[in-house]
Amino acid sequence: MDTLHITDVAPRDGLQNQSVHLSTEAKLGLIERLVKAGVRSVEATSFVSPKAVPQMADAGEIVPRVIARWPQLRSSVLVPNLKGLERAHAAGAQEIAVVLSATETMNRKNINMGLDEALRVSEQTLAQAHALGLRTRAYVAVAFDCPFEGETPLREVLRLAARMYAADAGEVVIADTIGSAAPGEVRRRIAALRDVVPLERLAMHLHDTRGLGAANAWAALEAGVRRFDASVGGIGGCPFAPGAAGNLATEDLVLMAERSGLPTGISLDGLLDAVDFAEVQLERPLGGRSIAWLRRQRAKRLESEESLRQRGYTQFEEEKP
Ligand code: HMG
Ligand code: MG
Repeated sequence: MDTLHITDVAPRDGLQNQSVHLSTEAKLGLIERLVKAGVRSVEATSFVSPKAVPQMADAGEIVPRVIARWPQLRSSVLVPNLKGLERAHAAGAQEIAVVLSATETMNRKNINMGLDEALRVSEQTLAQAHALGLRTRAYVAVAFDCPFEGETPLREVLRLAARMYAADAGEVVIADTIGSAAPGEVRRRIAALRDVVPLERLAMHLHDTRGLGAANAWAALEAGVRRFDASVGGIGGCPFAPGAAGNLATEDLVLMAERSGLPTGISLDGLLDAVDFAEVQLERPLGGRSIAWLRRQRAKRLESEESLRQRGYTQFEEEKP
């Protein structure tokens, strides 16, 4: 059956821009809840400059602990350059993601390199990662609009995606960094992208700034994409892209997919536990567009289980969405 592959990027994208900085233990607590929910792939952290993103300063400690505790979990880490790769490899990372933006200004703001240099460094980092036997992903960020340069020309997105595929990136991740895409444009861009990157190697990374994250995911799904990034509770955003709000929430994506007959292997109740946990840690309300409804369903179910329990029943199954 057709299955959706979801990478939960909350531990990296979700936490990199929070005013509350989580402890290493709390980050592991979040990953633990994701694993319990059935998530099989996460982006665990990033090996970037701790001056640029202090929230990710404990990357070297996170990676070995994640791998030791959940050896079956696919965990990727973001690296912006060869130094990041070196640190990630030393920590035992098995998969890395490079980040290339499709405009000159976004690369400069994000990783302090022009586009040509960012492309060269991404290719070098991918080659070196492959030589070390690591799996790889390559982000093509601002693939729809750039907060500094406006609409990103499709031909530039195609050129960079093709270069990342030629560099043998295991997944080429098309990112709507500021959540400005709409379904028609997603369909149009994926239709062109599938000519330069095989569909099974394409992934979508959507932000939900305008409430169109799930609609955009649906457009990508209909265009044949089966690999998606999402972030539990909808947390996330690039600190160097003004207007970048949270990611498409994992719970919204799972609800939409499961209701549409596409299994994800992920439990919505489990995701709700992860959202509850993240809310306590980050000290603010979280959750995607479906959160209020999901919580009401859970409350109703718990109520009816309690009444059954009082009548002597003990076995309950999680209800399908
Ligand atoms: P720089 O200042 O140009 O770096 O920063 P540099 O090479 O000149 O080195 C300066 C100092 O940083 C040196 O240390 C280096 O050793 C150190 P010093 O001698 O001053 O003590 N350094 C590093 N330290 C740790 N890890 C490294 C590293 N590299 C150099 N990897 C740099 C360039 C790329 C490091 C910096 O700009 C940076 O870290 N940027 C991080 C950007 C970031 O994390 N952005 C958010 C993630 S991307 C995103 O969110 C988008 C995404 O979600 C997709 C989407 O939605 O579009 C993926
Ligand atoms: Mg992002």
